[in-house]
Amino acid sequence: MTIVLLPGDGIGPEVVASAVEVLAGVGEFDFAEFPFGADAIERCGTPLPAEALTGCRSAEAVLAGAVGTAAHTTTPGSGLLRLRAELGLYANLRPVRAWLEGLGPLRPDVVAGADLVIVRELTGGLYVGAAGRSAEGAYDTCAYTAGEIERVARVAFRLAQERRGRVTSVDKANVLETSRLWRETVTGLGQDKFPGVELEHLLVDSAALALVSDPRRFDVVVTENLFGDILSDEAAAIAGSLGLLPSASLGDTAGGLFEPVHGSAPDIAGLGIANPCAAILSAALLLRYALYRDPEAAAIEAAVARTLRDGIRTPDLGGTATTAEVTRAVLAGL
Ligand code: NAD
Ligand code: IPM
Ligand code: MN
Repeated sequence: MTIVLLPGDGIGPEVVASAVEVLAGVGEFDFAEFPFGADAIERCGTPLPAEALTGCRSAEAVLAGAVGTAAHTTTPGSGLLRLRAELGLYANLRPVRAWLEGLGPLRPDVVAGADLVIVRELTGGLYVGAAGRSAEGAYDTCAYTAGEIERVARVAFRLAQERRGRVTSVDKANVLETSRLWRETVTGLGQDKFPGVELEHLLVDSAALALVSDPRRFDVVVTENLFGDILSDEAAAIAGSLGLLPSASLGDTAGGLFEPVHGSAPDIAGLGIANPCAAILSAALLLRYALYRDPEAAAIEAAVARTLRDGIRTPDLGGTATTAEVTRAVLAGL
């Protein structure tokens, strides 16, 4: 089974190397690596070279690091956006857990036990709408079809059925027409196909506050592309660090793209102190959602939890451990 690796830039290669070590600790896999992001711009003149895309199409799954450097801030991201679009990965699952009390900036009595998944629409909205410059300014447009909304909402409802049976749909229906369509469509799908799932609607500003003041009220949160991008970084406060947030990008065909929620972190790249847990947990999601190997996925998640409990933590979590030390501890805990 071939797993394509797209290490990318900054801390991307550092954390992908950790995830590969952990994968090798639970099974035998073939890996194929391709340049991606600013690294690929330097080497091939484009952030997503044709061979990388072809490799991703034929792979069982793709594990990516992150893209972006100080010299190349916007164009590397375009390679990632193109990859998501080309592979039809419209649903981005971003699980968030309060792994351990006292890890983040929020009070333990507020976050203890929080366990939610943000399902972010990943191939539509402002990210792909017509954009440009005019003589006076610039514009981006947000458009969604009912079909685009329904397919990602279905993913959220199904996920809720396997969890605590509750979906929170987040929009800005008091202002945006796309949000009014979003709300109507999600409501209709819920009534028709998922009557057993409890559905609530929240406006995005209110949801942003509730995420950090009452995170336990959430089970599955479904929202459009840009809101999901912003809310998921905010939700890192619940876990304690962006370095603890993995993601799975899925479509209608098997496979998928698995990557940390965080970026290339140029401020700590090369120091050997990046938190590898988000990448390691992304590898666990790869095992679960692309290779259907849930026991191995659960074993990795348990080993990460044990490592955190044992106090082996990188500086973003207030610890002094290095990337390599955390990786070794996770491997030992398997
Ligand atoms: P970032 O996520 O890279 O970093 C934000 C902060 O979190 C930094 O202080 C960083 O040191 C810290 N951080 C992130 N991941 C960490 C980890 N694993 N361990 C410890 N600390 C960690 O966001 P940014 O600084 O806004 O963006 C940097 C570059 O990354 C930009 O070029 C941006 O476009 C890109 N980016 C890429 C992706 C992706 O490839 N999926 C995601 C987000 C940002
Ligand atoms: C993410 C990132 C990307 C996004 C950027 C790098 C294009 O922030 O994966 O969350 O906005 O989707
Ligand atoms: Mn983001």
